[in-house]
Amino acid sequence: MTNLRKVTHGPFAASLSTDQANDSLVWSLAVKCTAPPEQLRLRCLHDAGFARPIEELKSEEIVLWLAKVAPPGDGPDTLRVEQAMQVLDAKETDRMARFLHIEDRMGYLAAHAGARLLLGAIAGRAADGLRFEQSALGKPVLVDAPAELDFSLSHARGAVAVAAAHMPIGVDIEPLRHISDMDAMSEIALAAEERRELAKAPATLRPRLFLRYWTLKEAILKAAGVGFTIPPDTLIVDAGSSPSVLAVPAALGSTAQWRVIASAT
Ligand SMILES: CC(C)(COP(=O)(O)OP(=O)(O)OC[C@H]1O[C@@H](n2cnc3c(N)ncnc32)[C@H](O)[C@@H]1OP(=O)(O)O)[C@@H](O)C(=O)NCCC(=O)NCCS
Repeated sequence: MTNLRKVTHGPFAASLSTDQANDSLVWSLAVKCTAPPEQLRLRCLHDAGFARPIEELKSEEIVLWLAKVAPPGDGPDTLRVEQAMQVLDAKETDRMARFLHIEDRMGYLAAHAGARLLLGAIAGRAADGLRFEQSALGKPVLVDAPAELDFSLSHARGAVAVAAAHMPIGVDIEPLRHISDMDAMSEIALAAEERRELAKAPATLRPRLFLRYWTLKEAILKAAGVGFTIPPDTLIVDAGSSPSVLAVPAALGSTAQWRVIASAT
């Protein structure tokens, strides 16, 4: 049994800058818009600033919160369990409690509390008063959101990402790791030309490149609100140092509307 005191008190999540995240994480963001890519601005929240009112979010701006997460203790200290638990609603608290592993529970807590604090700060509303609905395909939607405000969250063991913008947005984060079934996963998730690029990469760089493909595709599918109901190998992306979207199925609109940003190669 997990010690109850341990899961209800103490710091458990710490903000990361994009540079700090590069060593151990791969993350991607996707937005659907008509603004030229060079006009998009990424504002990475590198302290607990997301808990205070956020300076007006401009139409071409994306706010991103990256954090590492650990079981509560003396470690990461941007968010404390008791502060995060206070903003969840009963449904979220119930879902959180159903995760068997404390790492997964803390990831869920950080992502959902982080999303509430971030959206509350953008919208000028109390984080615990926000209400969410789910689209038919599972995309969470803020009820009574200010015009066009969208958000996305991702929780992996040990890390979370939350992003928001005044346009459809998706974010995905994965720990950088050895992937034992990378070939089998590539067959399912990557298009033929992407698999060729992956095969050309030096073996030591392949896990990072694979995870770039993976997170770029998931971010696009989340921004579109469709998740894996669209097979990821039907999207084609350039996962190089300036990532871009090369092709999307008609259900996702025009390829020219998609912009992506990712962690360093
Ligand atoms: C969305 C999805 C791609 C993300 O999966 P993942 O990598 O395992 O997990 P992540 O932590 O990165 O993201 C999960 C979050 O994505 C969001 N999400 C779920 N479905 C989504 C969708 N259709 N569009 C956008 N975001 C979605 C949720 O916030 C979810 O977090 P939560 O479950 O804690 O609320 C995947 O869960 C998926 O496709 N699910 C299937 C959806 C589906 O087929 N639904 C059919 C219903 S008929």
